[in-house]
Amino acid sequence: MVCRRLKDMTSFIVMDVLERAQEMERAGESVIHLEVGEPDFNTPEAIKESAIEALRRGDTHYTHSLGTPKLREAICAYYSKTYGVNNFEPDQVIVTSGTSPAFLVGMSTVLECGDEIILSNPHYSCHPNFVRFLEAVPKMVRVYEEDAFQYRPEAIKAELTPRTKAILINSPANPTGNLLEPERMAEIADLGRLVMSDEIYHGLVYEGRARSILEFTDNCIVYNGFSKLYAMTGWRLGYLIVPKYMVRPIQKMVQNFFISANSVAQAAGCTALTDPSVREDVQKMLETYDRRRRYIIPRLREIGFGITVEPTGAFYVLANARRFTDDSYKFAFEVLENAKVGITPGVDFGSNAEGYVRFSYANSLENIKEGLNRLENYLNGRGR
Ligand SMILES: Cc1ncc(COP(=O)(O)O)c(C=O)c1O
Repeated sequence: MVCRRLKDMTSFIVMDVLERAQEMERAGESVIHLEVGEPDFNTPEAIKESAIEALRRGDTHYTHSLGTPKLREAICAYYSKTYGVNNFEPDQVIVTSGTSPAFLVGMSTVLECGDEIILSNPHYSCHPNFVRFLEAVPKMVRVYEEDAFQYRPEAIKAELTPRTKAILINSPANPTGNLLEPERMAEIADLGRLVMSDEIYHGLVYEGRARSILEFTDNCIVYNGFSKLYAMTGWRLGYLIVPKYMVRPIQKMVQNFFISANSVAQAAGCTALTDPSVREDVQKMLETYDRRRRYIIPRLREIGFGITVEPTGAFYVLANARRFTDDSYKFAFEVLENAKVGITPGVDFGSNAEGYVRFSYANSLENIKEGLNRLENYLNGRGR
């Protein structure tokens, strides 16, 4: 028997698409992957080198349960330099094996059974599953294409109850690639509830700039990690920044459940944040993502997808596919089987993204071009 809490957990549909695509590839077919939310770049050399040095040096032991002091100081300095915030100290940073476990830790700290947390609809697919796993309730607030899929603070306010423990924001967002305007962030902070801010796509911004929730309030938990900006998905390194009163309770949880994050990955994380050559590598990746973004948006519009507000962050476009379908799940698999292009159905990100599909441009321009040519040919022949 599997426990009740797992019964409600939805699968991560993008992984279902990817697994089917891989099955097709094993059978000898060529598939273009525009579904995966993972940098196609390898980790910058200096980061890899520092991991090798760490191994040689003997950094092969458990670290402090909250993370190495060096990395926690580097994260603190990075936030201070990037956002001009000085409202937290290194001992409020807790290093985890990726941002995903940080969600589990952060949400477990504040959510009692039956408590509520505000999420946007659409949202990152995994967010509500952490909430439900803790037997709390994700309260979905719809966000709309014409608003660049940003929260309307008044819509959040209408959903607040005495059981609302937190409001989750994610800017730049997965799946939309849009940023939340600072005015809206300020209004959300002013609602007086704990704000949980998933800042994993910070740095991957092509126009404007991402703002940290720490610029607006201390009553917050920041989630961040190294997977996206530094192309370090496989290293499993992330962190949370929390108010002081949460540190000791979280420390007990981390000591019991995880002991510490990976020692070698933590050494590499310090290099990611401080090495000038990494900054140059990141800049090159950014320029490359931006070239792809500038290509994919007009091409998708030409093919017939709707993009009202151009996304300016992360590496996603959530495109309106209503001209072709009102069943995004069926459509994504139809496109995969016929055009041999992997895309993610909007429903993976919530009911309000039905009729949309997500394109990831974390693939080479050459592959993106080929993928969109295939898609266009297929859709032209399909009839609408
Ligand atoms: C919005 C968002 N948050 C968190 C994560 C997970 O990141 P990590 O690799 O650090 O666990 C992802 C991964 O796709 C994401 O899109």
